[in-house]
Amino acid sequence: CVDVSKLTRETGLFTYDSGFTATASCKSAITYIDGDKGVLLYRGYPIEQLAEHSSFLEVAYLLMNGELPNQAEFAKFEHEVTHHTMMHESLKNFLHGFHYDAHPMAMLAGTVASLSAFYHDTLDLEDPAHRRQAAIRLLAKVPTLAAAAYRYSIGWPIRYPRNNLEYVDRFLHMMFEVPSEPLELNPVVAKALDLLFILHADHEQNASTSTVRLVGSTGANPYACIAAGITALWGPAHGGANEAVLKMLEEIGDAKNVASAVAKAKDKESGFRLMGFGHRVYKNFDPRAKIIREMTHKVLGELGVDDPLLEVAMRLEEAALQDEYFIQRKLYPNVDFYSGIIYKALKIPTEMFTVMFAIGRTAGWVSHWLEQQVDPEAKIGRPRQIYTGSDVRDYVPAGKR
Ligand code: ACO
Repeated sequence: CVDVSKLTRETGLFTYDSGFTATASCKSAITYIDGDKGVLLYRGYPIEQLAEHSSFLEVAYLLMNGELPNQAEFAKFEHEVTHHTMMHESLKNFLHGFHYDAHPMAMLAGTVASLSAFYHDTLDLEDPAHRRQAAIRLLAKVPTLAAAAYRYSIGWPIRYPRNNLEYVDRFLHMMFEVPSEPLELNPVVAKALDLLFILHADHEQNASTSTVRLVGSTGANPYACIAAGITALWGPAHGGANEAVLKMLEEIGDAKNVASAVAKAKDKESGFRLMGFGHRVYKNFDPRAKIIREMTHKVLGELGVDDPLLEVAMRLEEAALQDEYFIQRKLYPNVDFYSGIIYKALKIPTEMFTVMFAIGRTAGWVSHWLEQQVDPEAKIGRPRQIYTGSDVRDYVPAGKR
């Protein structure tokens, strides 16, 4: 590992690394990935162990603080998060300003950015208590804003957070209409959602987390940083992939069309890729995909879901895993492939899929932001470029061009 910034200072040389495939932008003690071996650790703990034994809120504590909480620490943390779940009444006006069919990611990004307008009195970034409070506020309010965005988009009244419920149950309660809704307070559903939030909680310097850090490096407030992360997550090459997976499955439509979809994905001219396959870092199986694959089958069994699209998904997985093109390029199903299927089984609407990802990833984003604030080596992010434009030339008045 070479410290290129030192080399640049001394020689004026800099490196070209489009897409940052070979550049570490910071030092971080939060998440470790070994893409070749399919290893993912949060603060040293294997994702498999956290998925089996922990809860999303405990994982959020771990990511933010570096250690697992004891019972008293966890109770205090849970109490603090619960205390901040409500959204300011005036914030509803922001939601009402959106067109009724706005994408929930647009509403989430907008309302999260607007939090800085509500909590500017506690935004002294030099004060560790202020920083911690902002992080907890974001963790607490993102699910409330996410559910409110969804309900606004379908014309239903907003449901307030019920603070006698746990994190995931509270979110499900805010999302769905009827108190007897079978998905609400179903332990398998709650466990599946909790698991998805754990798996999505952090993934080192992915595009959205790097965006949070880039904006954070300018000294911008944490709400602006996380809103920027949300917008970066939106794209189909990143968090938007889970929504794109479902759209793709709908387009394929029937298990008998799977072979032609695979053939199309192999044809570079088609411009079509199998959504939910491949990963920049994992060139082995994505360890999160292994865990979620198991949960997918459990949820489908428990809920007795009989959906032809899920059949398409299973056939596609089978076909791609046996195809030389995908094997050679190490293109395995990633976490987004399965998360979309689970969300669909849980009756979470497709346009909410990336929002669900954002709820989980908020734990990672705020942890990176907190870490960056106390990093003595942190400086403003300012990449260079290779200029490919015109040589110097003289201005020509409009009439002579
Ligand atoms: N379907 C078909 N071919 C693919 C796919 C795919 N999903 N992904 C990559 N390839 C091919 C490329 O065409 C390329 O082929 P070539 O070597 O013959 O030119 C080769 O595999 C390598 O692809 P790159 O684009 O160089 O790989 P990169 O690491 O840059 O991209 C990415 C990773 C963006 C995830 C890519 O695999 C992709 O677009 N996947 C589909 C979208 C997706 O699922 N995104 C979610 C990412 S995970 C997350 O955000 C949690």
